[in-house]
Amino acid sequence: MKFHIITIFSDQLEKSLKYGVIGKALETNTIELNLIDPRKFSDNDYGSIDDKPYGGGPGMVMQCEPVLSSIEEAKEQAEKDTLTVFLTPQGEQFTQKHAQKFSKYKDIIIVSARYEGLDERIIQLTDNSMELSIGDYVLSGGEIPSAVIVDSVSRLIPGVLGDAESANKDSFSLGLLEHPHYTRPENVRGEIVPEVLLSGDHQAIEKWRIKKSLIKTFEKRPDLLDKIELSEDQKTLLNNYKKELKE
Ligand code: ADE
Repeated sequence: MKFHIITIFSDQLEKSLKYGVIGKALETNTIELNLIDPRKFSDNDYGSIDDKPYGGGPGMVMQCEPVLSSIEEAKEQAEKDTLTVFLTPQGEQFTQKHAQKFSKYKDIIIVSARYEGLDERIIQLTDNSMELSIGDYVLSGGEIPSAVIVDSVSRLIPGVLGDAESANKDSFSLGLLEHPHYTRPENVRGEIVPEVLLSGDHQAIEKWRIKKSLIKTFEKRPDLLDKIELSEDQKTLLNNYKKELKE
């Protein structure tokens, strides 16, 4: 999969993606980055691509032509009708569902805004586009959100994670938080590893993990449970836990 990213800070983005499994996926070309700097389409000798907002107010706004030309360049190198994502705090909230959907694409174009934001007409003039936010807070630019998208999408692309690290069990992959993990030693300052994990009984371990995953979600993110259909077994496990709490 190829991520076409429009950014004036390609260095920041490249550096944040060169580690671990994502770094390896880039080295082996399992995923590719096509970084486009809109400054090359600047209409002046300084390479600036921002200007004061009409109507006044603080900050600067990213100009239309350099960003639109960058998107056009990306589109020329991408599959027809490739999605363009604008990263802005005003966008729809990015979730694992978006990551799953994007991971099936051959290309995706991501626009990483800086300054106070983008001239609104850039969004209006771009076909097949959407605005996405990575959360209800404001960052100084779209590079970190872009890295978040590349990382979360890439994990779902076959060959990026080994079998041992399979993404199927990640938190949110089934709409639930992940069960707790433990490693050696068995006893840490009196806190011991749950016995079932030492039992070698794979069925019992799986059942324990499902139960813990449900309980963790119920306790920490009950809102997630409203968004999924639990199986009968899962409902029973959770109801038993709720009864235990009342006793
Ligand atoms: N740019 C600045 N803040 C952002 C956010 N929360 N999500 C996406 N892009 C952003």
